[in-house]
Amino acid sequence: MTKVITYGTYDLLHVGHIRLLQRAKALGDYLVVGVTSDEYDRQRGKQQSVMSQDERMEAVRATGLADEIILETHAKQKAEDIQRLGIDIFTVGSDWEGVFDYLGEFCKIVYLPRTPHVSSTAVRGRKRALLAGLVGSPERRKETLQAYGMAHGVRITEEAGMEELERPQEFITRMEKVDLVFLLEQFPGSRELIEEALLHRIGIVCEYRDGFRYDAELAKTAERQHTMYYVMD
Ligand code: CTP
Repeated sequence: MTKVITYGTYDLLHVGHIRLLQRAKALGDYLVVGVTSDEYDRQRGKQQSVMSQDERMEAVRATGLADEIILETHAKQKAEDIQRLGIDIFTVGSDWEGVFDYLGEFCKIVYLPRTPHVSSTAVRGRKRALLAGLVGSPERRKETLQAYGMAHGVRITEEAGMEELERPQEFITRMEKVDLVFLLEQFPGSRELIEEALLHRIGIVCEYRDGFRYDAELAKTAERQHTMYYVMD
């Protein structure tokens, strides 16, 4: 049985990754994929991944191409893994040509062709408009649309009246399509709704003049959820 190993970050799994895994698998009978840990990527100065190490491993697992998935946590691990797992072939994409020749003392090294024009970095760097929702009376929505509708980088794609807030679950499901919601009016239970939205990673923007006060607890929730909570003056 020929055992093959390959390593990578596999953030935002894309066609280049899948082709690489297919080619790696075709080199032998058993494929081990080493996914770099978040901490190791930080140490080696790699740009922060959008997906966590667990999500990246799960995505690689879902391709069905890996027979075994391991976490790569430190620089010298490759040589250790190759010996420990009895690996015959080490492979990576041609962007690494020559870099891993030193592992040739343990197994065969193969640099595979890289798929052109695609990379996690390119996908991460893509600019897209923030999608926003507006919640409030028709008058306030109209006013806000005039103010923000044209703002560069913000696209208002959802609108809701106050009456929809009586069905918070349906409201949250609808607002999950946007990155942030402009909440234009206060209502009994607005704090709970804001909290629920933040827990679903829907950012909230509201205004002081509408009676909203900055709430440090909500700000902490937003921070934990990597989303936005902003009370405008
Ligand atoms: N790979 C490939 N073709 C691409 C992108 C990646 O064959 N277009 C290969 C790499 O050579 C490596 C594996 O996929 O063997 C995992 O690479 P990784 O660094 O996770 O992917 P990139 O998209 O290059 O990521 P980044 O932009 O963050 O460097």
